[in-house]
Amino acid sequence: MSNTKDTLTITDNRTGKTYELPVEDGAVRAMDLRQIKVEEGDFGLLAYDPAFKNTANVRSEVTYIDGDAGILRYRGYPIEQLAEHSSFLEVAYLLIHGELPTTDEHDAWVHDITHHTFIHENIKQFMDGFHHDAHPMGMLVSTVGALSTFYPEAKGIDDPAARHQQIVRLIAKFPTLAAFAYRHSIGMRYSYPDNDLSFSGNFLNMMWKTTELKYEPDPILEKAMDTLLILHADHEQNCSTTTMRAIGSSDADPYSAAAGASAALYGPKHGGANEAVLRMLEEIGSVDQVPAYIKKAKDGEFRLMGFGHRVYKNYDPRAKMVQGLAPQVFEVTGKNPLIDIAQELERIALEDDYFVERKLYPNVDFYSGIIYQAMGFPTSMFPVLFAMGRIPGWLAHWQENLLDSEQAIVRPRQLFVGADERDYVQPEDR
Ligand code: SDX
Repeated sequence: MSNTKDTLTITDNRTGKTYELPVEDGAVRAMDLRQIKVEEGDFGLLAYDPAFKNTANVRSEVTYIDGDAGILRYRGYPIEQLAEHSSFLEVAYLLIHGELPTTDEHDAWVHDITHHTFIHENIKQFMDGFHHDAHPMGMLVSTVGALSTFYPEAKGIDDPAARHQQIVRLIAKFPTLAAFAYRHSIGMRYSYPDNDLSFSGNFLNMMWKTTELKYEPDPILEKAMDTLLILHADHEQNCSTTTMRAIGSSDADPYSAAAGASAALYGPKHGGANEAVLRMLEEIGSVDQVPAYIKKAKDGEFRLMGFGHRVYKNYDPRAKMVQGLAPQVFEVTGKNPLIDIAQELERIALEDDYFVERKLYPNVDFYSGIIYQAMGFPTSMFPVLFAMGRIPGWLAHWQENLLDSEQAIVRPRQLFVGADERDYVQPEDR
């Protein structure tokens, strides 16, 4: 029995007072700091943590990441095993329900989702209203939010059955919205869902079907697509998931929350990085230009997109698995020459002190775009594919947040450093 207590003793040198704070799960409660005051009437001490770099604001059972060891587990299952043995819909079930489904549960889940892939015909009018070169991520953010107007019952966020129904609809309809956005951008008529196909096979059908009566997905590309969706399905409290939880904390419906999460994901520092990586590789243009660009990155002239991570200070395990998909995809599509540039970039960066010191390794976005491009997806679709994979993770966290009795509407404090009280000045006196 250790005689050490799980507490932190703090001495406030401003007053000489000491305080004992409980340490639980490797954390102290920020609210325990409020007792630390100079004057009795003081508000009490706050914790200041821009971008929450060292703040946990939730307890979660969904996903575990060990950034130093490069470990990623969904509900305890290693991502490597899920990518090898599972399917995206089974992983979605696992993330949301917390356990792998029995055969009956799995079949019912797949049936439910398969039969909710259609979107209201009116949504096509929204799609048709976008400019021909509208970015599909902007179209996705808008149309996901618009779904909330078709399902007013989604406001019943306290009703498990209503939550389940919206969860099924969102997972089922994301691919349809994604594919319709693409078809709009190339001026092709929409290809409707085919319930005979798998989740990923149907997505490829909605993306690529032309004059054939029935689209038949290439099984290697269908499996690669499914694996890529698994690898993107969740990643604990990243920017977009935190957004999903924050919007959900006001009891907003899940469609509105998912629209906000999609908007957060759109940023090039987050899910928009896979698109930025492709544009970077195309700008580099050839392997012999790599050293010059590495130098630019070290001189701070540009960010090596697809490198670095807030949590992973080791190789992102997903990046390895995405890269591992390249040979089988290229067998079907032909090799994407950009992979040579990417691999040379990685080789040189991982030997260079600048990146090693900052623990900058390839992340999930570094290789995914190369594969997506080889599969025929336009670069602007890459963040949309990321969102399609992440929607089950967002929903798992949204629901976990609603069911967590410790949670409340997200409303952080601030350190006010602005102007003190001052009187209004008439325009002629300014
Ligand atoms: C995703 O959070 C998640 O889990 C996200 C995600 C998920 O699944 O949800 O994993 C998906 O978003 C992956 C990340 C995709 N983004 C990119 O690839 C964009 C490039 N990477 C960076 O912008 C950056 O690495 C972040 C945004 C990913 C992380 O930023 P941090 O943690 O705020 O780190 P930082 O920006 O403070 O950088 C620390 C240092 C800095 O150097 P100094 O100023 O201290 O000298 O590393 C440098 C940065 O300049 N740095 C880079 C770099 N990333 C960080 N230098 C060159 N190239 C880079 N890519």
